[in-house]
Amino acid sequence: MIVCICNRVSDSTIRSCVEQGARSLKDIRDTLKVGVVCGTCAQCARALVRQYVSEQREREGSMAA
Ligand code: FES
Repeated sequence: MIVCICNRVSDSTIRSCVEQGARSLKDIRDTLKVGVVCGTCAQCARALVRQYVSEQREREGSMAA
């Protein structure tokens, strides 16, 4: 699914960015240029980053247990 139409950034690209260390909308804005043109995607992109970070923490937590 394309999240940022202006820069053609998909949800899977955002997920990869989180897996490589991104933790906030600012992080993906800096690396992927999400939200820097019209800004329409920012809210959705922020929600996805939070979701992916949360999922990653759950996976890391389950591996540590
Ligand atoms: S849709 Fe992402 S900046 Fe326009």
